[in-house]
Amino acid sequence: SWTTEAIIEDQIARVREQVGDDTVLLGLSGGVDSSVVAALLHQAIGDQLLCIFVDTGLLRYREGDEVMAIFAEHLGVRVERVNARDQFMDALAGVSDPEEKRKIIGREFIRVFEAAAKRHQEASWLAQGTIYPDVIESAGAKTGKAKVIKSHHNVGGLPEDMNLKLVEPLRELFKDEVRRIGVELGLPAELVMRHPFPGPGLGVRILGEVRPEYVEPLQKADHIFISELRQAGLYDKVSQAFAVFLPVKSVGVVGDARRYEYVIALRAVETIDFMTARWAYLDHEFLDHVARRIINEITGVSRVVYDISGKPPATIEWE
Ligand code: XMP
Repeated sequence: SWTTEAIIEDQIARVREQVGDDTVLLGLSGGVDSSVVAALLHQAIGDQLLCIFVDTGLLRYREGDEVMAIFAEHLGVRVERVNARDQFMDALAGVSDPEEKRKIIGREFIRVFEAAAKRHQEASWLAQGTIYPDVIESAGAKTGKAKVIKSHHNVGGLPEDMNLKLVEPLRELFKDEVRRIGVELGLPAELVMRHPFPGPGLGVRILGEVRPEYVEPLQKADHIFISELRQAGLYDKVSQAFAVFLPVKSVGVVGDARRYEYVIALRAVETIDFMTARWAYLDHEFLDHVARRIINEITGVSRVVYDISGKPPATIEWE
């Protein structure tokens, strides 16, 4: 069987052969797959790689800065950060249907990426973080949600007139191999071992209409939950964990004052394949500590609840 180093060497040789002296564009999302492609292509072709990082404003707490720190500053990869937050917020204003929100986010993402490709006519290749399970998944057309995931992440959803040739160095690899390659190429373990994060990001973790003022409280709550999980050594024991913003006001008291503020739901699940999942039996003291921190540190939140629904019938995400 292939060692990690051998896979890397083989892919580097293949990519060099494939693209020659051409420039390659890559949509870097901060997720595991596109990050590993970035690190691999950087090794293979250096500055011929140009990453486009679209900051949708719907990413995790300080994620945009982290991506730039890891790739641009630390690894020396060429990354163009596009701050498209206002564009996404404007497009989402007044929309509350989850599938409609997914469509809009996918569409705006393509628009931003297409504009970046137009600015970089020198690029003739598009790199993608397609991995083997994606290849199988798109072969057997699946549920509506799977299709949406595909249209967001695969070139099938990108306009054909972009006229870019595809380079997909992870196409034959499974997730665990991709992770090992990432570590070997010097990506931080925290990034490589990260829980999955949906393409539409916090757009589907703010229930209903996405308003700009909901984003920061959600990012902060999620960050508190995730960092406490890490600190307690629980992060790698659960398969996925996150916070959800419920635009519902409930009554609370602080001192003598009555507060009427929003609700944060915490979700943590254990699963093998994400098709079925059970809620994680997190320690009550731990949950108590996280809930207190969220309520004390985040203005606008006065109540925290823990989701005890299994999948099925509940999905992992709330939308
Ligand atoms: P559900 O909510 O369907 O989630 O139980 C199963 C897994 O898929 C992720 N997920 C998404 N990923 N685009 C994505 O890229 C999406 O629209 C999407 N919806 C759900 C979810 O985070 C979980 O890991």
